[in-house]
Amino acid sequence: MSNQLEKVRELIELRAKARLGGGEKAIEKQHAKGKYTARERIAQLLDEGSFEELDMFVEHRCTNFGQEQKHFLGDGVVTGYGTIEGRLVYVFAQDFTVFGGSLSETMSLKICKVMDKAMKMGAPVIGINDSGGARIQEGINALAGYAEIFQRNIMASGVIPQISGIFGHCAGGAVYSPALTDFTLMTEGSSYMFLTGPKVVKTVTGEDVTQEELGGASVHATKSGVTHFTAATEEEGLSTIRRLLGFLPQNNLEEAPILNCTDPIDRLEDSLNEIIPDSPNKPYDMYEIIGAIVDNGEFLEVQQDYAKNIIIGFARFNGQSVGVVANQPKFLAGVLDSNASRKGARFVRFCDAFNIPLVTLVDVPGFLPGTGQEYNGVILHGAKLLYAYGEATVPKVTVTLRKSYGGSHIVMSCKQLRGDMNYAWPTSEIAVMGGAGAVEVLYAKGAAEAADPAAFMAEKEAEYTKLFANPYNAAKYGYIDDVIEPRNTRFRIIRALQQLQTKKLLNPAKKHGNIPL
Ligand code: HXC
Repeated sequence: MSNQLEKVRELIELRAKARLGGGEKAIEKQHAKGKYTARERIAQLLDEGSFEELDMFVEHRCTNFGQEQKHFLGDGVVTGYGTIEGRLVYVFAQDFTVFGGSLSETMSLKICKVMDKAMKMGAPVIGINDSGGARIQEGINALAGYAEIFQRNIMASGVIPQISGIFGHCAGGAVYSPALTDFTLMTEGSSYMFLTGPKVVKTVTGEDVTQEELGGASVHATKSGVTHFTAATEEEGLSTIRRLLGFLPQNNLEEAPILNCTDPIDRLEDSLNEIIPDSPNKPYDMYEIIGAIVDNGEFLEVQQDYAKNIIIGFARFNGQSVGVVANQPKFLAGVLDSNASRKGARFVRFCDAFNIPLVTLVDVPGFLPGTGQEYNGVILHGAKLLYAYGEATVPKVTVTLRKSYGGSHIVMSCKQLRGDMNYAWPTSEIAVMGGAGAVEVLYAKGAAEAADPAAFMAEKEAEYTKLFANPYNAAKYGYIDDVIEPRNTRFRIIRALQQLQTKKLLNPAKKHGNIPL
């Protein structure tokens, strides 16, 4: 064999060794837990055969605790680039088979390298987390490595989409990288995110809690709102990430891809002319409306189990990606509260950062009253949503279906928050407050003096409702651009979005605003 062939053979062997990560036994252990390895995950995430791995021969440099005896090619993370639906993406996947995927100085360098490339090329970064946290043997170098990653997460925010998949442990300060990214997905029953694990919790607070109860997927999907998506299996999780990317542009200077639309743009949806119940207190399901108006009923919901009184997610109109924000009358009557406001605000800001138009469907009775909300800072949280809509410069199309009262009317993308097209269904009630509350304020004295106070108040309420509980009062002032037939909503939204394609609006130059965090 020639010298050159010998060297090529050596390379092939080294590459094969690197691809085994922590070795066959560790891979078997990973599989026995029902989990895939880092490379298997990347292979499923990317278009077949598109992965180009980088830094396969990187090794850690630690000499503490006998680490100099233990080396694995590539260290604990697999990094590189590939495509999803033919579009460039950068990836890193922590390799649990190597020191439990724990973060070393060199791992951080590998991750930072792909993040830097992603920024230079203007392409999304996807990180798959499955790690025991900081490589304990490396001490402060591992911490510095995390900080380098966080700093890049912050710089990349609003420039390229950043997505985190949590497919195992993500604990301690490590949680802050996913938290800084745009979307987090957790697998059910096999992924955990917490700042301090159950043992430390027990020592510090005396609380007995399992990993699942403390930071499992369902906790973060329903209680904390930390995760945006959950998946029953790793396959489902990876396919959700692929689907999500289809709605997003590559970076903040591009538009999301426009798909060929197979759903007629002028499709009339007769059922919408009869969907609003006669009684204003009776709910209906906002999902039915979203499903009826978007392309082929396809809706990728974000945070579907958190603050269900507001619905957020991606859909398409005539092939164009949009962010949908809608009150859900079926849950807490669609009221805005602290969690719903925060959920909506972050989504609106994501869409605005990445040039994705906003379609807002309004049926909101107001903000949730009471000490629970006030003590929780609903004033600040509500202001976040208000701020997000007010600063957004992307096309904003709003359709009011039924209630739109008081402060919540303003917050939900009203005309004065630079709403571009504000439509209302004839069933809309756009007013400063509901009839019952209004007459309480206006006629308390009159009722006390009336022969039949109840009849007096009912008469006044009917008078108020007739005057204000409709869309025409707002339309009279131009606050509503048109009152539309419900069954025609899809077409009217598409027309509005077409009109707004060349919209140009710039906010005043500033370092950055001071959103009420
Ligand atoms: C070095 C680690 C490690 C770590 C795991 N390993 N975590 N090595 N540093 N942080 C190694 C284990 O020693 C083991 O090596 C292999 O990875 C697999 O781990 P197991 O424990 O056998 O796996 P499993 O039973 O599945 O348990 C997984 C685990 C557990 C729950 C994640 O490994 C664990 O509790 N790890 C420590 C978690 C932790 O406390 N991290 C905090 C670090 S401080 P061998 O050679 O036996 O196969 C921190 C601060 C970050 O993260 C701050 C950032 C700003």
